[in-house]
Amino acid sequence: MTNAPHTQWTLGILGGSGLYDLPGLENPEWVSISTPWGAPSDDILFAEIEGVRLRFLPRHGRGHALSPSDVNYRANIDALKRAGCTDVLSISAVGSLQADYVPGDFVMVDQMIDRTFAREKSFFGKGCVAHVSVADPICPRLSALAADAADQAGANVHRPTEDKSLTYLAMEGPQFSTKAESHMYRQWGCDVIGMTNMPEAKLAREAELPYATMAMVTDFDCWHAGHGNVDVASVIAMMQKNSAMAQKTVLNLIKTLQDRPRSACASGIETNLDVAIITPQE
Ligand code: ADE
Repeated sequence: MTNAPHTQWTLGILGGSGLYDLPGLENPEWVSISTPWGAPSDDILFAEIEGVRLRFLPRHGRGHALSPSDVNYRANIDALKRAGCTDVLSISAVGSLQADYVPGDFVMVDQMIDRTFAREKSFFGKGCVAHVSVADPICPRLSALAADAADQAGANVHRPTEDKSLTYLAMEGPQFSTKAESHMYRQWGCDVIGMTNMPEAKLAREAELPYATMAMVTDFDCWHAGHGNVDVASVIAMMQKNSAMAQKTVLNLIKTLQDRPRSACASGIETNLDVAIITPQE
């Protein structure tokens, strides 16, 4: 079975509340979407900018009431799918695990390690079993477009190369890491650390939604002898400092999408379930 490619972009954005008051939003409307998986973190803000449809979902809810373990990732991804998203960009705060990535930098990760353990991670099971590949959890097209948009906004952007992946370590939280953990993740070759982009990326793959992470560095976690240990105040201060840059990036990305009709995702993300469901279909 092949799905007809979407020829128009509908960009879903998962991130913090600083993103939603973009200048130029047309027809903004908060829409409640229910899902069989329970309630998403919040209503979804439907809007357009010059023909590009946008769908914003505050990952932790407006007012940041949900901890990373309490976010209903299945409901969020399903709600974005039901809202018609063709692609989903995650914009998230991360700690840096490498000296080269400093607070304020944007890191376009292409790999992830999932160390979360208290979250529902699949839409499948019990009657319909599927094993999707998340060998490459990030959509390279969306990631590259977002990286270019961040560049144009003036951000210091780090991209993966053929020789060097950029890896996001997803931890359960809500506490930050111990020093021993932080050093271990560095030894594993991880680049940034956060609490939310897994299982989000896995679920997006199961929902056949191209997904990319734009990780905004807010701190050096707790491994760096020259910097204090991460705390909430420094994360919030850096996010506030970065929010204008993130907004500019989103606006640049929209401009790019406006000028290019959407073609099918070359990595096959939109049809990956064709080869993933193992339970015989009646
Ligand atoms: N989000 C921002 N900084 C973080 C850190 N150091 N660890 C986990 N999540 C984070």
